[in-house]
Parts: sequence; C-alpha cells; structure tokens
Amino acid sequence: MTAQRIEGKAISDAIRSEIGAETAKLAAQGIVPGLAVVLVGEDPASKVYVGSKEKACQQLGFYSEVHRLEASATQEELLSLIDKLNHQETIHGILVQLPLPKHINEKAVIDAISADKDVDGFHPVSVGNLVIGDDSLLPCTPAGVIELIKRTGIEIAGKHAVVIGRSNIVGKPVSMLLLREHATVTICHSRTANMADIAKTADILVVAIGKAKAIGRDYVKPGAVVIDVGINRLEDGKLAGDVDYEDVLDVAGYVTPVPGGVGPMTITMLMQNTLKAAKQQRA
Ligand code: GUN
Repeated sequence: MTAQRIEGKAISDAIRSEIGAETAKLAAQGIVPGLAVVLVGEDPASKVYVGSKEKACQQLGFYSEVHRLEASATQEELLSLIDKLNHQETIHGILVQLPLPKHINEKAVIDAISADKDVDGFHPVSVGNLVIGDDSLLPCTPAGVIELIKRTGIEIAGKHAVVIGRSNIVGKPVSMLLLREHATVTICHSRTANMADIAKTADILVVAIGKAKAIGRDYVKPGAVVIDVGINRLEDGKLAGDVDYEDVLDVAGYVTPVPGGVGPMTITMLMQNTLKAAKQQRA
C-alpha cells in the first residue's frame, strides 16, 4: 500500500479563493482587511517569509504595511511602533516576525500586541481562549494542520493523536486543537521514553521537532495519518521534513510532503485570521 499524499498547496489554494471571494464582498461594504508585518534585522529566512506574506496580501486584495527595522533597533522603538499599529484603524492584524534580535524581549513584544489584532495567535489572551475553546484567532500553523486533516476528509473525533514536539508555536497549540476536535491526545518530547512505541499507536501523528528525517517507519502505525510540520535545510540545499517521507510511504495511510504540505497552509491561515480580525473589529 502506498500512502495518499496530502496536497497542501491545492488545499491552500482552495481556501485562498474562498478568502478572496469573501474579501471582495467586504470591499463592497467598504472594509479592506489590513495586515502590518514587522521585521527587525536581516535574517534571510525571515525576509523570505515577510515577502511571501506581502505577496499574499496583494493577491487577496488586502491592505498591507511592512515595517523594516534595523537589527540595532531598541525594544522601546519596536514597542512604540506596535502601540501605533494597535491604534491604527486601517490595520486589523499585526505580526512581528520571529526570531527577534537577542537584545529584544520576545515576550514583552508579543504581550504588547492588542489581542484583537493578534493574527499570530501567540498573545497570552489568544492562548487562553484556545485552551478554553472560545472562538478566537488561532495560531496559523496549528490551525493549518487541522484544516489539512479535515479537508482531506479524515475524521478526528475519537482518534488517538500523537504530537511529537511541545513548542509554544506548534506542539502545544496543535495538541489543544486536536483535543478541541475530540481526539485523544498524547504529547511526546525529547524526554519521552519509548517514543516509537507510543507513536506507533497513533491514528494521527503530528511531528514538529525541527530535525531532518528523524521519524521513520518505526514510528508509524499501518494506515496512520502522518502530518510533518518540519522544514529543514539539508547540506545539499534541499528541503526535508522531520519525517523520512520515502521511508514511511508504504506504511502510512496519508502523509504530507515537504515542501508542499503544511508549509503553504501557514500564510493562508494568517490571511484567514486577518480577514476574521477585520470582520470582528467592524462588528
Ligand atoms: N517565524 C517563524 N514562524 C513564525 C510565525 O508563525 N509567526 C511569526 N511571527 N514568526 C515566525
């Protein structure tokens, strides 16, 4: 049996066309979703991500602003920019690209963003709403993982979901979202004993550890849904996920490729959050 490949690009394109249609309707009421992206310094990967976010805004008819600050910018300068954007009516979503330079306190910056405009879903109020189950702005990559599973027609309720990784950006929030969808959830991490044995009991296996090809067929139950959140640059310049795709292909039931799986969903969910924030701020 060969696993079915989950086509993140196609699913992402379908959601973007839904967002585009809704944006056009809102435009008729004089509402244009606005996103501000803040980039501090010259991190090459961050520059690429920020460029992609700007392009997505243009394609969907959103208003966007990109604020580029020098790597030497002070925390006070960044906080004062966030304060200005918090009060700016044309801006419904604010995203500060991470990582930030070492002299800036990431938590202080995230806390300063108005929770209404927190399209990254990283603010403590957003995280609290996520856990309680309230309707709120959900973190983009975890929300993208859930959409991929649902739009592939896979039922989550009642399944055993195993998440490998416990980061604040992916592992913890995706675990909470799977729980909200009524999965039975196990979280594994670097100190977990017998991780392969636990992973092998998963109907849905989500991997977010940031280690190229670390998870092979020994971790996968026959027929399982394998969602690979990792994006790692190999020495030959190619991209690889945290899952050894070729190795699990004839064991898993479904698997996401890297690139072309979870990756395309992240910016799409950011656009969906910005649209949602615009509607909520107008309501
Ligand atoms: N850097 C890498 N991923 C992300 C993300 O999802 N949001 C932000 N703000 N920065 C990132």
